[in-house]
Amino acid sequence: MTGSGIQLIDRAQAAARLPEFGGLLQMALTAQGRARAPYSRFSVGAAVLGGSGVSFPGCNVESASYGATICAERGAVVGAVAAGETAIRACVVVTPTVEPSSPCGICRQLLAEFGPDVLVFAASSVSDSVYVASLGDLLPLSFGPQNLARMGPKAAAE
Ligand code: THU
Repeated sequence: MTGSGIQLIDRAQAAARLPEFGGLLQMALTAQGRARAPYSRFSVGAAVLGGSGVSFPGCNVESASYGATICAERGAVVGAVAAGETAIRACVVVTPTVEPSSPCGICRQLLAEFGPDVLVFAASSVSDSVYVASLGDLLPLSFGPQNLARMGPKAAAE
């Protein structure tokens, strides 16, 4: 994960950036331990911080029909929304790679629903490293509701 606005920091620096980081990380690590990943053997945990201040966990759940697999980040978002959250402030994701793995494109797209200021922390469960970036940095010029509202006259007539 490189690019403008994306920083490689450690856990202590992450906690300085967001006071809730420590709790989110613990929640994500616990969820990682519950991941169902028999095919990839790549366990991922996540936790999102809702607008109310409550946090929600997620883990990847794989299917023998591989395309039915859901990522940890999207699982956490679904849990938050189902509990009544309308905003997501931050997302912590933990992967078992020394260099943290950043959220996949589909997860970035879903997180973008909650705006470019969502703070994403990609942490490692086997090292102290953390990437931090805003969603806007991870997914610039993203497709969103503004695009749906800007159809040209030809598309609108169809
Ligand atoms: N995975 C996630 O949970 N989050 C991501 O952002 C990337 C990938 C999961 C999906 C699959 O179960 C495994 O990691 C390997 O791709």
